[in-house]
Amino acid sequence: MRTEIQQFSNPSDLAERAARLISNGIQESVTKKGFCNLALAGGTTPRLLYERLASIDYKNRIPWPDVYLFWGDERFSPQDSSQSNFDLAWKTLISKIKIPRSNVMPPNMDLKSPQQCAMAYQETILRHFEGLGSSFHMDVADNGTDLKIPQFDIILLGMGADGHTASLFPDHRALQEKERLVVWIDEHIGTPMTPRITFTLPLINGASDVYFLVSGDGKGQTLKRILSEPDDSRNVFPSAMVKPQSRLYWLHDIQLT
Ligand code: 6PG
Repeated sequence: MRTEIQQFSNPSDLAERAARLISNGIQESVTKKGFCNLALAGGTTPRLLYERLASIDYKNRIPWPDVYLFWGDERFSPQDSSQSNFDLAWKTLISKIKIPRSNVMPPNMDLKSPQQCAMAYQETILRHFEGLGSSFHMDVADNGTDLKIPQFDIILLGMGADGHTASLFPDHRALQEKERLVVWIDEHIGTPMTPRITFTLPLINGASDVYFLVSGDGKGQTLKRILSEPDDSRNVFPSAMVKPQSRLYWLHDIQLT
């Protein structure tokens, strides 16, 4: 795994470079494989990136009909609620690009519980990867069973001040998940405080490339520890536990001094 760290002086420069890198990554995947399985990040940081990807500079450069969109985590709330990560991506990106609706696969928020939603989403992902003939990352579970993990080409992630990523929070049991691809978080946790569903570390780490986009107040101390002491941080911060198969990008506008 190759790690690349790039610091920017403001969110706009971060978003511009992220758009260029991710646009290139998507095109590279489509050229090589004929498709790109991309998982979008939640939170507020990706807004500027999504707006750039929907802009005239990028919208026609990216072969959207060959791109399949998923969400690395989602708050358990209606798709049109202001809490929804899907809603942010819909308003800033998806409603502005020519991507087949069938390529856009958010978690089904009409189901009765976070558990049902997470279990259904795992099936959606598996069915898609098998149907497309996509690649799988082969791993072995602690009990020796073989694991076929859908290999996302690109996963976008954010990071909270506590070092959480997606909806994987410090000291949470979800971090111990070794086999499931998507799990549910019944507690009201994070910002906003709500139940959630999230990709697990096996699914995130099975990906080819992961891009962290980190911006916002209160994250400097955590980010500095993760970037300067990655091995020690791996026992503490979920974001430091992310180790994809090929490339890991840290794109941030945080003053680390
Ligand atoms: C979520 C996000 C979460 C987010 C971080 C950073 O659903 O809450 O996936 O992991 O990426 O909390 O959020 P900001 O970008 O808003 O700082």
